[in-house]
Amino acid sequence: MAGQRENFGSRFVVIMALAGSAIGLGNIWRFPYMVGKHGGGAFILVYVLCCLLISLPVFFAEGILGKSTRLNPLGAMKQVAPKWRWAGYMGILAAFVITSYYSVVGGWSFDYLVRSVFGGFSGLSFEASAGIFRQMSSSAWECLLCFFIFLSLTATIVALGVQKGIGNFSKVMMPLLFVMMVAIAVRSLSLPGSRDGLDYLFKPDFSKLDLPGIAAALGQSFFSLSLGVGCIITYSSYMKESEKILPTSLWAAFFDTVFAMLAGLAIMPAVFSVEGLEPGAGPSLVYETLPVIFSRMGPVIPIVFFLAVLIAALTSSISMYEVVVAWLVDEKKFSRRKAVVAVFAGALVLGSLCALLPKVFSACDFATSNIFMTLGAFVFSVVVGWKMPKTVAAETFGSRIYPFVHFLIKWVAPVAIAVIAVTNLL
Ligand code: PFF
Repeated sequence: MAGQRENFGSRFVVIMALAGSAIGLGNIWRFPYMVGKHGGGAFILVYVLCCLLISLPVFFAEGILGKSTRLNPLGAMKQVAPKWRWAGYMGILAAFVITSYYSVVGGWSFDYLVRSVFGGFSGLSFEASAGIFRQMSSSAWECLLCFFIFLSLTATIVALGVQKGIGNFSKVMMPLLFVMMVAIAVRSLSLPGSRDGLDYLFKPDFSKLDLPGIAAALGQSFFSLSLGVGCIITYSSYMKESEKILPTSLWAAFFDTVFAMLAGLAIMPAVFSVEGLEPGAGPSLVYETLPVIFSRMGPVIPIVFFLAVLIAALTSSISMYEVVVAWLVDEKKFSRRKAVVAVFAGALVLGSLCALLPKVFSACDFATSNIFMTLGAFVFSVVVGWKMPKTVAAETFGSRIYPFVHFLIKWVAPVAIAVIAVTNLL
C-alpha cells in the first residue's frame, strides 16, 4: 500500500503545497486586524514566539506522524496511539466543517472578483459598499451560487490528484500570489498617510497585550499554520521518503509569516490613508472597507486583490478537503473520485446552512478554531512526544537537532497549550 501512495514530486512542490495550505483567509483578514487590536509590534513578538516554541513543534509533530505512517490522520493515530484515535476523527470532522464554512467566504471572494472585473466598486462610498456586502451576504441565491462555484473549483483540483491537482496548482499559484501581494503593498505604502498604518501594525504597545491577546496569538498561529486538524499530517504523508521535514516545514512557516506581514502592509496603510477610518474586523474590513479604498487606487488594484484572496482561499480549502478525501480513500477504500463526490455532497449541505444561517456559520467557526484545533494540536504533540518511540520520530525527522525538537514537542508545546488554554478559560 505504502509504495503506491502518490507523492508531491519535488521539495519545491512540498513547500508550495504546505505554504498554500497555511496562507489563506487567516493571513489576509485575521492577522492584520489582530495585530492592531492586541498591541502592534508587541503582538507580533508574541506571535513569532508562539510560532517558534509551540506551533512549529506541533507542525513538526504532524509532519512526523504523516511521513512515518504515510496515512491520513485517523490511520496515523490508529497506528501510533490507538487509544487516541478519537483525535484523528475529530481532526477529520474539523477539516470537513472548516471546508464548508471557509468555502462560503471563498465564494464571496469569487463574487467580489467578478464585481471588480466589471468595475463594480469604482466611485463607491463606504455606505454604498456596506450596502453591497449586506445585499450580497443576505441574497440567498448569490451566496449559494458563489459558494457552489468555489466548492466545485476546490473539488476539481482535489479530484485531479495529489501531484497533478494539488501540487501543480500550488506550484504555479503560490509564487503568483506573492507577486500580487507585494505589488499591492508597494502601492499601498506609497499613499500619503500610510505611516499611521505602519504605526498601527508595528509600534509595540505592551499595555494592550493581555492574556486574551496571548491566547489569540496562539490560536491565530494554529489557524494560520493549519494545525490540529491533521492537514499537515495528510500533506506530509505525500512527501517522498527522501524528503526532509525540517527544511520543508521551516520554509512553509516562514512564508506564512512573511505573507501575513505583507497582507498587513497591503491593507493597513491603505486604510489609514483615509482620514478618520478605523479598520474593522474580518468580513467588514475585506468586503466593505477595502473595495472602496482599493478602487480609489485605480481599477486594477481591486481585481488583483480579490484574485489574491481567491487564490489564497483555494490553496487552503484544497488542503482541508484533501484531509477528508485521504481518510475515505485510506480507511474506507473509496476511489479518489468517489471520495471527492462524497465530500462535495456533505460540504454542500453544511456549507449551504452556513451561507444561509449566520448562527451556524459562527458556531462552526468558533468550535473549530477555538476548540478542535487547540485540542488536536495538543494531542498530536503529546502522541509524538510520549507515545511514539523516540528513535522512530528521530529517524523520520532526519536531523541532528531532533533531541532539541523532541523536548519542544514533548514538554514545551503541550504544557504551553494547556496553560494558555486553561488560564484563558478561567
Ligand atoms: N491556514 C488557513 C488560513 O490561514 O486561512 C486556514 C486553514 C487551512 C485551517 C487548512 C485549517 C486547515 F486545515
